[in-house]
Amino acid sequence: RRRALIIVAAGSGTRLGMGTPKAAVTLTGRTVLEHALDAVTATLQLDVLVLVLPGDAQVQHQLAAAGARAAQRCGVDIRTVSGGETRTESVSAGVRAVQQYAQQQSWTGAVHVLIHDAARALTPPEVFHRVLTALDSGAQSVVPVVPLADTIKRVGPSAHVRQTVPREDLKAAQTPQGFALELLERAYSRSAQLTPEESAALTDEAVIVENLGEQVAVVGGHPHALKITTSTDLVIARALLAENGT
Ligand code: CTP
Ligand code: MG
Repeated sequence: RRRALIIVAAGSGTRLGMGTPKAAVTLTGRTVLEHALDAVTATLQLDVLVLVLPGDAQVQHQLAAAGARAAQRCGVDIRTVSGGETRTESVSAGVRAVQQYAQQQSWTGAVHVLIHDAARALTPPEVFHRVLTALDSGAQSVVPVVPLADTIKRVGPSAHVRQTVPREDLKAAQTPQGFALELLERAYSRSAQLTPEESAALTDEAVIVENLGEQVAVVGGHPHALKITTSTDLVIARALLAENGT
C-alpha cells in the first residue's frame, strides 16, 4: 500500500481574526502550518505530502517553503495546490492532487489517504499512527474521536432547552481522518450530486462515507489535537507549547 497525507491549510481564519490566513499565524515564532508539519516524520512512511494552501501568492510562497523543508527532512515527495472557498473544495483539490500523483507514479494497489487540518497544529504523532494502523488492519475509513466534556442541550427556536442529549455515545471528531482512496473517490462522485445546502452540511469527509452506508471506524484522538479556531484556542496552544519547551 501507498500512503498520502493531505494537509488542508487554505482557510482564511476569520474567527481567529488576525487578518492573515490561519496557517500563517505565528505561535511562539513559528507558523501554525510549521507546527502542524512537525507531526510529519519519516516514521509515518508517507509516499507523498499534499499541501492545500491559500491563494495569496506571498502567503503561499512562504508556506510552501515550510512544506518543502518538512518534506526534505523526512524524505517524502511534496505537491502544493491552491484551496477553494470551502473546506470541502480544498479537500477535493487535495484528493485530485493525490490522484494525479498516483497516476504519474503508475501506482497500482491500495492507496491510504490521511486528511488533516493544519489548524490542529499540535496533534501528536500517536494519533497519526493510530489512524494508519487501523487502515493497515483493513478499515476503509477511520476517524479519531474524543469524549465531549460539556453537557449537550438541544435548543429550540424560542431559546429554550428542548432536550438534554445523552452524552455517553457522543464523540467529537478530529483529524487526521484516514480513507482508502478508492472509497474517497466513490464518496466524492456521489456527493457531486448534492445540492449546495446538502454539501454545506458536509463538515468532514467521514460524513460522505457514512452517507454511502459504509462503516467508519473510530480510534482515540487526543486533547492536544484541538482545532485552533478562536483566540482562546491560541492561548491554549501557546500554553501547551510552553509546557513542552518548544
Ligand atoms: N480550510 C481549507 N480551505 C477552506 C476552509 C478551511 O483548507 N476554504 C482548512 C483550514 O485551513 C483549516 C481546516 O480546514 O486547517 C479547518 O477549518 P477552520 O478551522 O474552519 O479554518 P478557517 O476556515 O481558516 O477558519 P474560519 O472558519 O474561522 O475562517
Ligand atoms: Mg472555516
